[in-house]
Amino acid sequence: MIDLRSDTVTKPSAAMLKAMASAEVGDDVFGEDPSINLLEKIVAERFGMEAAIFCPSGTMTNQIAIKCHTQPGDEVVCEQLSHIYRYEGGGIAFNSGCQVHLIQGDRGRISAAQVKNAINPVDDHKSHTALVSLENTANRGGGSCYDFDEILAIGQLCKKSGLKFHLDGARLFNAIVAKKESPLQYGKAFDSISVCLSKGLGCPVGSVLIGTREMIVRARRIRKVFGGGMRQAGYLAAAGIFAMENNIDRLAQDHQRAQCVAETLQTKDFVENILPVETNIVIFEVGGRYTASALAAALAKKGILAIAISATQVRMVFHLDITDQMIENIRTSIQLL
Ligand SMILES: Cc1ncc(COP(=O)(O)O)c(C=O)c1O
Repeated sequence: MIDLRSDTVTKPSAAMLKAMASAEVGDDVFGEDPSINLLEKIVAERFGMEAAIFCPSGTMTNQIAIKCHTQPGDEVVCEQLSHIYRYEGGGIAFNSGCQVHLIQGDRGRISAAQVKNAINPVDDHKSHTALVSLENTANRGGGSCYDFDEILAIGQLCKKSGLKFHLDGARLFNAIVAKKESPLQYGKAFDSISVCLSKGLGCPVGSVLIGTREMIVRARRIRKVFGGGMRQAGYLAAAGIFAMENNIDRLAQDHQRAQCVAETLQTKDFVENILPVETNIVIFEVGGRYTASALAAALAKKGILAIAISATQVRMVFHLDITDQMIENIRTSIQLL
């Protein structure tokens, strides 16, 4: 099976497994795991931020950040397709007691003008707007990337209005590679960033939350309360260190392969609209002969797994377990549909 359902399906390579097996470990709840301490240092330094904390998942790093930046009853501003709102089990309400102010953006991205309109005035009737959260790349936007000037404009607005500014960077390195940006510019722009190691970077587990030293001290306490304090998890952190050293630049290959398959899809009469392919995700509308789920079933019969993300949309995600030969097979199979 060629699995394009997500970039979370990758398995660690032999070299990554070797790095994991030879990791030095200790009890991380005591702060004594050298591999975790090193991973946190590497990621914080890469972004020019003060401190970092290794967590089991991107959901946990996002939810810890939201908890750090808000009080119950506050409002969190985000795009209506964002992962923190749609796919984290209602965690904003459950964990932080906050409500959301949703913005209808452009392929998962919001603008400074929209954020400005979303900030509540000081008024006893209104919730206190506390946090703006962006997603880059935006998953449901088809892996779309922000224009960095827009990020800067939103950041300035947050600063002026006393709001915290968080980034769900589950696929931030895809954006950085695609737009030839630097992690340092992101570190300067945000109060906190969640970076996933278990998506395009190919690790089996793990995300890192980065922020100020003071914030990460609080994050460590919240991680414990959420049940995310791990012990000899340095075996997992070693995979993260390996990925930071080896799996970032190669993301360009995933982007190029996504483009290549999109070009084949474009030629088919049942593909009505492909969202612009900026990184490793291809989302397209299906019509005519197929519904989205019927197309996913037809592809599965040919050994290709894709996801019907709505009644009319199919998503394919390209990752490091996909080879050139698989791309050829995918293109041939699509041509025969
Ligand atoms: C944009 C985005 N943010 C956060 C997450 C959550 O990551 P995890 O599955 O590690 O909880 C995902 C997962 O796919 C995601 O796509």
